[in-house]
Amino acid sequence: MDTLCLVVPKKKAEPVRRRLLEKGVLRKDVQIRSDAKNVYLPVTQRIDLGFPVEIADFREVEEQVTDYRVLVDLPEELRPHLPSSYDSLGSIALVKMAEEVAPYANQIGKAIIATQKSIKTVCVDSGVTDEFRTRRIKVVAGEKTTETTHKEFGIVFKMDVSKVFFSPRLSTERESVARQVLPGEVVIDMFAGIGPFSIMIAKSKSPKIVYAIDKNPDAVSFMKENISLNKVAVIEPILGDAREEISKLEKADRIIMNLPHDASEYVADALRMLKPGGVIHYYEIMEEPKVQPRLDQIADTARREGRVLNELARRRVKSYSPTMNFYGFDLQFF
Ligand SMILES: C[S@@+](CC[C@H](N)C(=O)[O-])C[C@H]1O[C@@H](n2cnc3c(N)ncnc32)[C@H](O)[C@@H]1O
Repeated sequence: MDTLCLVVPKKKAEPVRRRLLEKGVLRKDVQIRSDAKNVYLPVTQRIDLGFPVEIADFREVEEQVTDYRVLVDLPEELRPHLPSSYDSLGSIALVKMAEEVAPYANQIGKAIIATQKSIKTVCVDSGVTDEFRTRRIKVVAGEKTTETTHKEFGIVFKMDVSKVFFSPRLSTERESVARQVLPGEVVIDMFAGIGPFSIMIAKSKSPKIVYAIDKNPDAVSFMKENISLNKVAVIEPILGDAREEISKLEKADRIIMNLPHDASEYVADALRMLKPGGVIHYYEIMEEPKVQPRLDQIADTARREGRVLNELARRRVKSYSPTMNFYGFDLQFF
């Protein structure tokens, strides 16, 4: 496409480009060109900035489709049922699919792959089940694999999304917990999964040791791989039941309890292994009216164990369902 342009020597091009942008005369519908000496800045009108003005041929900017829904061909009345978001775990997209659009799963998957470069596989995620909190997963488009490597805050997490639990939506939470860790702390991650809390802490802080317990052999196996991929030395992975394993460890300054449906059953066990003034990061999925009664119950458990609860912080980390949220609590016990 022929358009007016300023011919600017390469070294001077960037400030001129910014000036044209500020003046609102830089064309954004065509691609800026350059050769060995000059940059050709396409403009909407003749402008005198002391550089030659020419007419030259430019390539049009291709409009990038970013919303996969534009590419899905289905009856209009079903369009509102298309998933409005999905989780990206490395090269895998996990999509929760309403029944109404389930027959279009392959088309939806292909559209996601076409609009998000990093995604090579799309899986339908039918929810987390069983004590290992693994997802029911079905590959519906792209490469037939459930293994991926996810990056977060410069840390890599290898996993099989059908065999272990991992949520990218907890990355800020992990970072917030890691930020609180002091040098030399003993940390216990009671339900550690593939190790995201433990590795984040070991990588960004200087704990004495992080004991990372999980009952799922696949989770512990990926955790070991992730410990070595991220070159962290202070984590001791432990395969087993947290209730049993925690009692064999030294007392901790900090205990992480991310088992959001059942953590309340393990509070007394955790308290027995927590140093005076230590902190428990406690997570639970519940309705808002249940939050205070749960904290009162934890305070009662603490009293029975001869401890006193000091609530440092509570936060709604993410929503879980129309009525339930995932809450995080930083609880100190004297
Ligand atoms: C919600 S996941 C959290 C994993 C990890 N902390 C994370 O943030 O990704 C809970 C983990 O606890 C493990 N788990 C469940 N019950 C357990 C128990 N009694 N003892 C040890 N691990 C358990 C599951 O296998 C699962 O990996």
